[in-house]
Amino acid sequence: MGRRHLFELEDQHWLPNQLRSLVTDLLQYQLTTFELYKPIIPHLKKVMQTTDCHQIVDLCSGGGGPLLQIQETLVKEGYPVSVTLTDKYPNLEAFRRIRQLSGNQIDFKAEPVEATNVSSELKGIRTLFTSFHHFQPEAAKKIIIDAVEKNAVIGIFEFTERRFYNVIGTILLTFLLVLFQTPFVRPFKWSRLFWTYVIPFSPFICFWDGMVSNFRTYSTVELQDMISDMKSETYTWEINQLKSKFGHHITYLIGHPAKSGQ
Ligand SMILES: C[S@@+](CC[C@H](N)C(=O)[O-])C[C@H]1O[C@@H](n2cnc3c(N)ncnc32)[C@H](O)[C@@H]1O
Repeated sequence: MGRRHLFELEDQHWLPNQLRSLVTDLLQYQLTTFELYKPIIPHLKKVMQTTDCHQIVDLCSGGGGPLLQIQETLVKEGYPVSVTLTDKYPNLEAFRRIRQLSGNQIDFKAEPVEATNVSSELKGIRTLFTSFHHFQPEAAKKIIIDAVEKNAVIGIFEFTERRFYNVIGTILLTFLLVLFQTPFVRPFKWSRLFWTYVIPFSPFICFWDGMVSNFRTYSTVELQDMISDMKSETYTWEINQLKSKFGHHITYLIGHPAKSGQ
């Protein structure tokens, strides 16, 4: 299936942050409950150990994605890390909640951070979860180039995929999951219930954006093409897929310089 960059509601600047947060909070809940990114933790840890890095700068953090779970797992495994959450449209309520739950090991930038141009002052491995597909090829490449120019380690992880299995799964499950899970999503908000059960905007946006996300996700071959003509001779790249316990593939790209300046 070829890549199609269809319209995602979440990307629209006119979408009120309150509605965007409904989706990113729900995604955070699902990623954590189903431990969707658990298989990548050993790979993340390995590159952090190789580059002697103890800081994660998460880009496009949304509602925090899997970062709290990753940070807690790494602490349990004896590799403590600190995390900074960032986003172009920061979900401050979610960021504050995660900071509190992490005992201040996870902090955030309250001002917008553009993933294609990240300040060198934000030091650590740059991670992107469930978000690289939001970028058209040129901007996506810019994210990697920006990391390379600033000698930063980068990890891109996507559980969506251009595969029949994912598309059918989205069609069959999204509405059910959103309807059942919404009361458990935190922070509790009456507006979340309103936009789910009175006006079903939340299930609709999750369904549409979830479906489109699969069609937009880059394959390992496309990721390989992106880095092939990049001036990054000192970088080691790992591009591959891992299987989650639900049969999804997690496509990932990890790149690190011989010696990181971050
Ligand atoms: C699908 S959400 C992913 C959230 C989170 N990483 C997760 O796994 O749950 C994509 C996020 O990318 C953010 N985003 C979109 N364009 C961006 C950009 N140019 N720079 C930084 N963040 C951006 C959106 O605000 C949104 O929060």
